[in-house]
Formats: sequence, structure tokens, C-alpha cells
Amino acid sequence: MSKQTIINRITTAVIRDMKRKNEKICMLTAYDYPTALIVDEAGIDVVLVGDSLGMVVLGYDSTLPVTMDEMIHHTKAVSRAVKHAMVVGDMPFMSYQISSEDALYNAGRFLQEAGAQGVKLEGGREVAETTRRITSAGIPVMAHLGLTPQSVHQFGGYKVQGKEEHAAKRIMEDAKILEEAGAFSIVLECVPAALAKTVTQTLTIPTIGIGAGIDCDGQVLVLHDMVGLFEKFIPKFVKTYAHLNVQMKEAVNQYIDDVRRGNFPEKKHSF
Ligand code: KIV
Repeated sequence: MSKQTIINRITTAVIRDMKRKNEKICMLTAYDYPTALIVDEAGIDVVLVGDSLGMVVLGYDSTLPVTMDEMIHHTKAVSRAVKHAMVVGDMPFMSYQISSEDALYNAGRFLQEAGAQGVKLEGGREVAETTRRITSAGIPVMAHLGLTPQSVHQFGGYKVQGKEEHAAKRIMEDAKILEEAGAFSIVLECVPAALAKTVTQTLTIPTIGIGAGIDCDGQVLVLHDMVGLFEKFIPKFVKTYAHLNVQMKEAVNQYIDDVRRGNFPEKKHSF
């Protein structure tokens, strides 16, 4: 990577600084080269290659089947496109739970093989030691609390977390533990807005919310949800900014019609 590229890129220091300056952090997911180009050129701060890949791109029912090799493959494509944003690779189920050695090895793959600048992993105090181990090796870690989709079976569904007092207290404690363990930011997913506000005010590292209200230091959405490419299931927290599935279907219908009627290709498309 050239010196110029490093200077122009959003780093963990920039992200932390944005909290200090009260500037909102904008994060979106991307999983391939063309969409990563779009979000980077639009000026997004962080591109997350989320394991939501499994649901919105690979057609799995949950994020659980996603493998390290799939994540590396897609992160490589994203990294080839992104010049300005920070690229964060999402550590898939079972890539960091078995041992912190495994976790460090897999986190390293995201940087060394796939060109990411950081990793994200789900969980609270139970991943604190792993977070410490990975950050000690110089790999930035984004934490993820609240509704952590890899634990969907333990939660009994995709439900708001931290509604009861004891659960809110645990999320607050976990956030402080992960900050202390070296995480540079924390995703808060599907937690009450008031809890997210308290966590945000308590921590020195930024919070990035998804279904966590307006007071987080930043926001993240799954790209395919917010552009209406994946409308099989739209969570309450998603704002849909476009309906690309409708536009794409219209385009495909017109193409089929043109081919069947002999209207395509025209002279200008021929040699
Ligand atoms: O996998 C993902 O896309 C995520 C975000 C929703 C935070 O974890």
C-alpha cells in the first residue's frame, strides 16, 4: 500500500476522532467490487463486509453457514474497490469462538489475504480475551453487542435485546469490558434507544447503531436492505432508500420482451 493510500484512508484514529468532534460515522455493508465502488465513491466512512453476506447474497437462512473462505473471497473483492473508507471484515460463526489462537489466525487472514483494515466479532465479556489478543497483534477490532445474529438460536429468534433491567445492565457492562479490551468501536444492534444512548455517553469509543436509535455515534445498515435489493424480509429499523429489485425486474422484463420481439440487438449493438 502506498504512503498516499494510507494517508487518505479512514483509520481507527479518524473514527475515534469523529466521536470527539460529534461527527456521525456512516457505515454500510458491501460484498462485491461494484457495490463497494459505489459506497466508497459516495463517501461512506466504513465498509463492513458483513456475514449478512450469507442471507442477502448467498441465500442462506441465517449467517451461521458462512465460512472464513467465503468471507475472505468477498472481502478481497471489496478491498480491491475501496480506496477511502475503512474496510472491516466480519468474523464468521466458529472462526473466533473455539480459541483465541484460532481467532487471531483468522483475524490475520482478513488483513493479510483480504486487504481489510479491521475485523468485527460478535459477543460480550466472553470474547474480551480474544479481543485483547487480536488487538495486541495490531488488528483493530469492532465489537458487536445486543442482537448478535450468530446467537439467533440462543435468543430464540431475531429479538430486541436489553429490554429488561438486568439485560441492559449486562450490555452496559459488556460494552465497558470490550472498550477496556481494546475494541475501537462497538456495533449496537436492536437495543432500546435509551440504552444505546447511555452506552454511547459512557464509552470513549464510538457506538454504531442498527436498530438502536438516533443517539449512537454512527449508523450502519445492510446495503441490500436499504437499496431494496433484498425485500424477502425488511426489519423495522431499515429505511428503504430505493427499490432496485423493482427496477432490475423491469429491466429484465424489457430485455426479454426486446429479444422475443426481435428488437434487440439493434444495428448499433452489432459489428
Ligand atoms: O453482518 C452484518 O451485516 C452486520 C451488520 C448488520 C452490523 O453484522
